[in-house]
Amino acid sequence: MDGSAGKDTSLELKDNTVIVVLGASGDLAKKKTFPALFGLYRNQFLPNDIQIVGYARTEMPHDEFIKRVKSYIKTPTKDLEKQLEEFCSICTYVWATPANTGEGQAQEPSAVLHGPAAKRVHNCFSAPEEMLLPLRMVALASFAPQVEKPFGKDLNSSRELQKSLEPDWKEDELFRIDHYLGKEMVKNILILRFGNLFFGATWNRQHIDNIQITFKEPFGTEGRGGYFDEFGIIRDVQQNHLLQVLTLLAMERPISFSSEDIRDEKVRVLRAMPAIEPKNVIIGFAMPTFCALVAYIKNERWDGVPFIMKAGKALNEQKTEIRIQFKDVTSGIFKDIPRNELVMRIQPNESVYIKMNSKLPGLSMQTVVTELDLTYRRRFSDLKIPEAYESLILDCLKGDHSNFVRDDELDASWRIFTPLLNYLDDNKEIIPMEYPYGSRGPAVLDDFTASYGYKFSDAAGYQWPTTSAAPPTGCSVGR
Ligand code: BG6
Repeated sequence: MDGSAGKDTSLELKDNTVIVVLGASGDLAKKKTFPALFGLYRNQFLPNDIQIVGYARTEMPHDEFIKRVKSYIKTPTKDLEKQLEEFCSICTYVWATPANTGEGQAQEPSAVLHGPAAKRVHNCFSAPEEMLLPLRMVALASFAPQVEKPFGKDLNSSRELQKSLEPDWKEDELFRIDHYLGKEMVKNILILRFGNLFFGATWNRQHIDNIQITFKEPFGTEGRGGYFDEFGIIRDVQQNHLLQVLTLLAMERPISFSSEDIRDEKVRVLRAMPAIEPKNVIIGFAMPTFCALVAYIKNERWDGVPFIMKAGKALNEQKTEIRIQFKDVTSGIFKDIPRNELVMRIQPNESVYIKMNSKLPGLSMQTVVTELDLTYRRRFSDLKIPEAYESLILDCLKGDHSNFVRDDELDASWRIFTPLLNYLDDNKEIIPMEYPYGSRGPAVLDDFTASYGYKFSDAAGYQWPTTSAAPPTGCSVGR
């Protein structure tokens, strides 16, 4: 193993690159894009002579823009403050007043650019028509706060959006971001699966009973109520982030780690998935801010295994994790011994642990639930985990598409969700179940997951991370 997971290392950064940040006065730029660009800059991952141009509709003098950029980035040390000053010296801002402004319409390239870098930005597009895309994207931003996602609202609108990009951009020039694909633990899924024989051998319907992919946030739709009213949690998180995680968990071994080989396998999984059926769904709150749904994959490896995708805002904690529950061990020698579980904690506190049964040390033959635990901050304590956007921007600058969503993948993912979304739109009488802010979700949730086979075992009082060296009592062997 050379440690590079067979990646093409010939991909290189190009000098004299200009990064245009569309929607530079918006939420995404503030929370993710500029902090990630600064992270790359200060670690010297950006190409030489890079220029960063913020672009939006808001009229703003250069100084005000720089003030904003600085406020987006935390600089706990003097050194960082100095680097931030340098970073700001490569940032400029332009704003546009499009000529033919019409509510929700794509803008024409005759827009007028303003600001100190306007001329430079104009010059970096070889022909005036090439201004069309940034302007179209800005136009899109007026109805979807994050241009990058969701790509459309359903299968048809996604195809239309795709068509409108085709005249300007070829598929291999497009990088559709799903930032979950840039998260460290998500990037580890293929290595864990295909680099470890013992996982590979049990990764199928013969051994796995059910898989849960859970996304929880302890805050609501603060400041994004309008967007949520229109998009809801299914489009916001499940059709993209959680489905992407699912495809990496379920895909077959790719022929190589090249982006097309990986994406070919992801598409194959999606094509084997029937549309989500409304009977396999629960919705919570009024926006809706909670949804648990079950997907199936009709192929030899996974037929019959429920993939339970749960996503909720305004819940009791922040947590994104994958929980793979194995089947019961053969009964006979044990009385009701808990199932093994493999948990991949995507965030916070990246970790992989296996819940397993062991003999409780001592004179009895009592068993106890314990764990094989890879907690990143213990095992890799001196390594920094990059932000998802840092990793994806760098991939994009290098031209590596592996962690970006291909057109056919997008199409296949909308096909799985669109019938459900239509059903919910057509049946407004379905009232989402209310749940208290800060709770675990609608009260029926546990019965829902149990009805798909998930067995919650608290018999051993097990909780990860374990805090005490003396584990609580477990079950005993049947003799
Ligand atoms: C975004 C969603 O794509 O992902 C948000 O639109 C969500 O609603 C966010 O809060 C979660 O991202 P992260 O990286 O904080 O888990």
